[in-house]
Amino acid sequence: MSEPTAAAPGYFARHIFFCLNERTNGQACCAQHGAQAAFDHCKSRVKAAGLAGPGKVRVNKSGCLDRCAAGPVAVVYPEGVWYSYVDLADIDEIVDSHLVRGVVVERLLTPPELGR
Ligand code: FES
Repeated sequence: MSEPTAAAPGYFARHIFFCLNERTNGQACCAQHGAQAAFDHCKSRVKAAGLAGPGKVRVNKSGCLDRCAAGPVAVVYPEGVWYSYVDLADIDEIVDSHLVRGVVVERLLTPPELGR
């Protein structure tokens, strides 16, 4: 039996996952901070940029990503780059820079020490 020599290419080049988790117990959650609007905006921007589809970018919903203290958060794979965004202009910047050009938006990076 032969060993695989290289990882198979992914169906999508990148995924961006948005935490859309909502809590009703008073604890902080990304849904309280515009996560659904950010997800919707990202999805339409990616589509408008011609980035949606196989070999390109998939915008995904996620449950809690366990970094609530830094929320709202989104994470881009395969790089594993975490973003904490504030508004839709931040989403535009992530799309235009990271998803279109592959350039990480340093100013929006989630502080590494922030978790749940
Ligand atoms: S609620 Fe969004 S990371 Fe936990």
